Amino acid sequence: VDATALHLASASDPAWLARALAELDEVLIDHAHCEKKAASTAISLLFRYPDRARFGVALSRLAREELLHFEQVLGLLGERGVPFRHLRPSPYAHDLLARTRSQEPERLLDTLLCLALIEARSCERMALLADVVPDGAVAHLYRRLLESEARHHETYVALAEEFTPPAVVATRLGELARAEAAVLATMPPWPRMHT
Ligand SMILES: [Fe+2]
Ligand SMILES: [Fe+2]
Repeated sequence: VDATALHLASASDPAWLARALAELDEVLIDHAHCEKKAASTAISLLFRYPDRARFGVALSRLAREELLHFEQVLGLLGERGVPFRHLRPSPYAHDLLARTRSQEPERLLDTLLCLALIEARSCERMALLADVVPDGAVAHLYRRLLESEARHHETYVALAEEFTPPAVVATRLGELARAEAAVLATMPPWPRMHT
C-alpha cells in the first residue's frame, strides 16, 4: 500500500495490530459491520445530494461493492464458525465526522474527505493484518479488499474535486487527516477495525 496515496497523517500504533491478532474474530465481526455501514453511508449521500450528477453512478457502485465486502466477511465468519452479532461500535467514525462544518458546500466537502480517510485507514489496517495474520483465508480476503478500499479513497477525493478546486481539497484533506490521527489516538483499546 502506498502510504502517501492514502493521505493518512499517522501510521497505526503497533499495539493495535497485536490486539487485533489476539481477538481476530471480534475484529472480523466489527469489520462486517463496517462494510455494512460503508454501504449505508454511500446510499445516504445519494439521497442527500440527488442533484450532483457524478455522484449517482459512483456512489451506487461503491455501495454495491461494500455490500459485496459485507457478504464476503460474513462468509469468512461462517467458515470460522463465528456467529455474526451486534457489537458496540468504535466511536471513531462518529468522532471524525463531528469535525465536518455545518454550512454547505463545506459540509459535503468535509463529509467526503472524512469518508475518504476512513477508507484509507481501513486499507492501511487490512494491509497490516494481511501481512501477519496466520490464517491464509483472512490474509487472502484482506489483500483483495484493501485494493477496493484504496480505490474508494480515491473516489471520495475525486467527488470532492467535482465541486472544489484541487488545492482547496488538498489543504482540507491535510487538516482532516491530522484530525483523524488525533481521533484515532483517543480510541478505547477495544478489538475493532478503527480503535
Ligand atoms: Fe469495503
Ligand atoms: Fe470501502
